[in-house]
Amino acid sequence: MQLDFAQIPPREAYQWMISMIVPRPIAWVSSVSPVGVVNLAPFSFFNGVTSRPPTLMFVPVTKIDGTPKDTLSNIEATGEFVVNLVSEQQATAMNATAAALPPDESEMDRFAIESAASTRVVPPRVARAPISFECELTQIVKLGDEPGIANVVFGRILCAHVDDGVLDAQQRIDPTKLDLIGRMGGEGYCTTRDQFTVARPD
Ligand SMILES: Cc1cc2nc3c(=O)[nH]c(=O)nc-3n(C[C@H](O)[C@H](O)[C@H](O)COP(=O)(O)O)c2cc1C
Repeated sequence: MQLDFAQIPPREAYQWMISMIVPRPIAWVSSVSPVGVVNLAPFSFFNGVTSRPPTLMFVPVTKIDGTPKDTLSNIEATGEFVVNLVSEQQATAMNATAAALPPDESEMDRFAIESAASTRVVPPRVARAPISFECELTQIVKLGDEPGIANVVFGRILCAHVDDGVLDAQQRIDPTKLDLIGRMGGEGYCTTRDQFTVARPD
């Protein structure tokens, strides 16, 4: 089978891509509106980009009516956000925050998700996230045509909060303790528990 992406409508291309490019890590992004409402939403078009400078990216698409998602509006206005990683224990709460709430209602309040103050940025982090990255906006690259334009948000990582429970004796990440989830196609998810190692060639 060969798929010609030039011939596939965007919605169908999306379905193919989210089933093929798997598993995807999930950025559970907290941001704050100019009037102080805390927003929290998940994004799985997400990854690390480089460590020089320490940078990550995620992609809030513009809504089908052409308006920006709250996360994008907040980051464009304030230049700050936190990327929280998601453990299996928090999968249901993470999914709940994908609901389209009005900009003046906080997902953290609505779904009783405990927050903790950040140290370098205004948006709070998810208190029980195994890892949270405090970020400042580097740039937003817009790709594609309206509606549904992709806004690739690049953020510089200022600091990370790491739950001591995911560390080994050397104070490094113990991958067997870092019980994260990844997104598969549709409503499917996987865990990071099933792991193996392969020695790198010289
Ligand atoms: C696991 C998961 C991954 C998602 N990934 C994305 C994504 O990469 N880009 C996107 O625009 N929306 C994504 N969504 C949908 C947003 O979370 C949803 O539109 C949310 O309401 C946006 O919230 P906001 O308007 O408060 O920013 C995802 C939803 C879930 C459950």
